[in-house]
Amino acid sequence: MPTTLTGKRIVLGVTGGIAAYKAVELCRRLVDAGAHVVPVMTDGAERFVGRTTFSALASEPVQTSLWDGADPIPHTTLGQSADLIVVAPATARLLSAYATGLSTDLLTNTLLATRAPVVVCPAMHTEMWEHPAVQANIATLRARGVHIVEPESGRLAGGDVGAGRLAAPESIVAMIEAVLGSGGDLAGMKVVVSAGGTREPIDAVRVIANRSSGKQGYAIAGEAAARGARVTLVSTVELPVPAGVEVFAVETAAQMASALAEHAPAANVVIMAAAVADFRPVGPVAGKTEKLKKSQAVPEIVLEATPDILAGLGANKPNGQVLVGFAAETSDLVANATSKLRAKNLDLIVANDVTAEETGFQHDTNAVTLFAIGEPAVVLPLADKYTIAAGVLDRVVALRAAR
Ligand code: CTP
Repeated sequence: MPTTLTGKRIVLGVTGGIAAYKAVELCRRLVDAGAHVVPVMTDGAERFVGRTTFSALASEPVQTSLWDGADPIPHTTLGQSADLIVVAPATARLLSAYATGLSTDLLTNTLLATRAPVVVCPAMHTEMWEHPAVQANIATLRARGVHIVEPESGRLAGGDVGAGRLAAPESIVAMIEAVLGSGGDLAGMKVVVSAGGTREPIDAVRVIANRSSGKQGYAIAGEAAARGARVTLVSTVELPVPAGVEVFAVETAAQMASALAEHAPAANVVIMAAAVADFRPVGPVAGKTEKLKKSQAVPEIVLEATPDILAGLGANKPNGQVLVGFAAETSDLVANATSKLRAKNLDLIVANDVTAEETGFQHDTNAVTLFAIGEPAVVLPLADKYTIAAGVLDRVVALRAAR
């Protein structure tokens, strides 16, 4: 029976890590599933596994060099003909070269010479994986739409235990299938996401802002696009735009409300991750308020309520739309989140405790609880915001499927 991999041309990049032996199993599984696998090994990889092993199992002999074969430009031939490139294991060196566009060998040249989707599966020691330089490269690649299969925790070379072990071949195959498949479990959907904190002008230079960084909203937008959705992101912040995401820049709650009024009605899923100001200065002062002379009274800022955008979207929710809100709480998380879920006519609310360390505003990590009416709460423990985004979208997909 044909599978999503049948007939697909997959370049399997293998770099020099101890986990290179596991790429042999990955190669075999891809070939068994009907893919045409072309292995490309780096010099480092050849120190760990022999090229004969891959040549015997793959659909074509291993390629290792820009210069040795009959093809004068093997990297463009490989890059242009690939349906997908997977790098497993990906060393810290490969991640760095790919993130900075450094082309030193056949594999790095091929990665730069392709428009095919790329799946990268890092594997290294925990200290290296957690190093800020490596994490920054991962974030860069993710922001460009590269699919990352995170390493697992477990026993590493030398007997250490920690995060960094190459993901299991079945997890890598599942990611490849999702990317190559009908585009993932949000294929054909229109998803609208809001991100960042609004800024409400006091005068021409001053604003009332909040601590939201927009990172969680961007992670959700990127993950939804990776799963096949057409994604519109209404954002107050400038972060690297994930591949396949269309961004509309706004600043105030009123601008965000009108952008959402335009884009939300046609959406299958709307996710309000933005931190919208509840109050704004009444009639902001034109020009800049100058510093006071000693005799003058301190100016007062008079505030008025902004419209609750999410409640408005809930009140006018089209049939079948999944509407997701966020609840940033400092106390009574369960009671507050579930009452917002009902009051704003939401399908799902993502609640986080913004007083906890390493969660919520400005952090790269988050920990949330998901509430849906009539469903048990789902806890997504402390993880990077991409993992949280995946967990939120898993719930969205499940809620749609249950209808
Ligand atoms: N929200 C909104 N418009 C507002 C305020 C909030 O759309 N004017 C949305 C946020 O994007 C978020 C959700 O409502 O998805 C919850 O926001 P939050 O500020 O936590 O709740 P509020 O309803 O404003 O209640 P409170 O501030 O009293 O906790």
